[in-house]
Amino acid sequence: MINYTEKIPNNVDLGRDRVLQRALEHWQPAYMSWWYDMGPNESHNYDVYLRTAVSVEPDGWAQFDYVKMPEYRWGIFLQPRDEKRQVNFGIHKGQPAWQEVPGEYRSILRRIIVTQGDTEPASVEQQKMLGMSCPSLYDLRNIFQVNVEEGRHLWAMVYLLHRYFGRDGREEAEALLARRSGDTDNPRILGAFNEPTPDWLAFYMFTFFTDRDGKFQLCALAESGFDPLSRTCRFMLTEEAHHMFVGETGVSRIIQRTCEVMKENNVEDPSDVRALGVIDLQTIQRYLSFHYSVTLDLYGSDVSSNAANYFTSGLKGRFRETKLDDDHVLSEAEYPVSEVTGDKIVTKKVPALTALNERLRDDYIDEIADGVGRWQRIIDNVGISFRLTLPHKGFHREIGNFTGHFISPEGEVLTEEAWRKHEFQWLPSAKDYAYVQSLMSGRVTEPGKFANWIAPPVRGINNQPLDFEYVRFN
Ligand SMILES: [Fe+2]
Ligand SMILES: [Fe+2]
Repeated sequence: MINYTEKIPNNVDLGRDRVLQRALEHWQPAYMSWWYDMGPNESHNYDVYLRTAVSVEPDGWAQFDYVKMPEYRWGIFLQPRDEKRQVNFGIHKGQPAWQEVPGEYRSILRRIIVTQGDTEPASVEQQKMLGMSCPSLYDLRNIFQVNVEEGRHLWAMVYLLHRYFGRDGREEAEALLARRSGDTDNPRILGAFNEPTPDWLAFYMFTFFTDRDGKFQLCALAESGFDPLSRTCRFMLTEEAHHMFVGETGVSRIIQRTCEVMKENNVEDPSDVRALGVIDLQTIQRYLSFHYSVTLDLYGSDVSSNAANYFTSGLKGRFRETKLDDDHVLSEAEYPVSEVTGDKIVTKKVPALTALNERLRDDYIDEIADGVGRWQRIIDNVGISFRLTLPHKGFHREIGNFTGHFISPEGEVLTEEAWRKHEFQWLPSAKDYAYVQSLMSGRVTEPGKFANWIAPPVRGINNQPLDFEYVRFN
């Protein structure tokens, strides 16, 4: 028997909700065995300096302490309810926000929640081995923080399934623990979540690009007319910000270290840079192009009747829906999408309702471009002439209008043969991965020490010094 309020911090009155308790009594042990099995390798006995959410108040995040990860208090939090909230878009616009699942939307709503929920444990599985090659205790602590929070995001979606979807919700909650990233028989639902995350450069790229997809999906769901989903996503977004911070600063620190070494030694050629034990900017660019293109696919087809349905039904809004100045119904509006015609990429206007995936992807691209601009400034400040670029939207895509086409990073339509000739100038090769992994053959565990290929961060976690013992091995 679980002591609920003690073990599972929550603001959903779990202590008095017998139905929810019974569902969790079955699910929680299954979750723990998933964590022991698929959580960070060999980590179960470490004491990790983690923050735990204990309430939704601003100071609810202030709890930092050493925790063994299997004893992390995965909680259930929803942003407090706004009694006046309405459905803010689609055909139900102006109705009070739904506190229960509307019967007609039950199955699509469940599908939306399951698809979001599935990404959370997937990323933990993808990152399982990385602790074995961490560049510092600071970074090790950060990946563990991300992992326990992705675990909590799974709890957040499972809460919705248990609380609002009865028996089929419980079955879906179990299935979320049964799928495995990259498994041929029972893979995770979305493509990018079945790709390996083989090294720390890939991890930082993943948290910059793919966790940011998470942010945009959560922002769209935070607009949902189904109020519990909206409130759950709003709280999850507070955690997502830290994941993207880990990604952006991780890549920044790698770029900074590479640039310092290039400048000190006056080298530019990638092989000379590699000889000095840091990651050449060309390889960083190839990782960037890979993670960007794979993540763009997560937004789905450019033209999608599902996306139109989700919006019209009031289930999934646009990025910052209530801040947008239009009718929030979109029956007349148009939106540009690209497609390949012959050997050209052309833009055409389609009904905006059907282009909502593309629109969310474009909002995401704007934010990504800002982040890449900040990385570029590091290179510029050191005085190295190298440009990091985002490849064309159609480059290396497997979903949507560019599927089956061979688009260069500059946006030219090529033959497959011409494209393949350049493939490993544009995307990481097996040799690139082998090189990056050769830098990460063991882990750096001395407090205050950092691997040669990455600069230290500007400051520690929670005002602790850089040489703080963020993880204690036992
Ligand atoms: Fe997440
Ligand atoms: Fe995340």
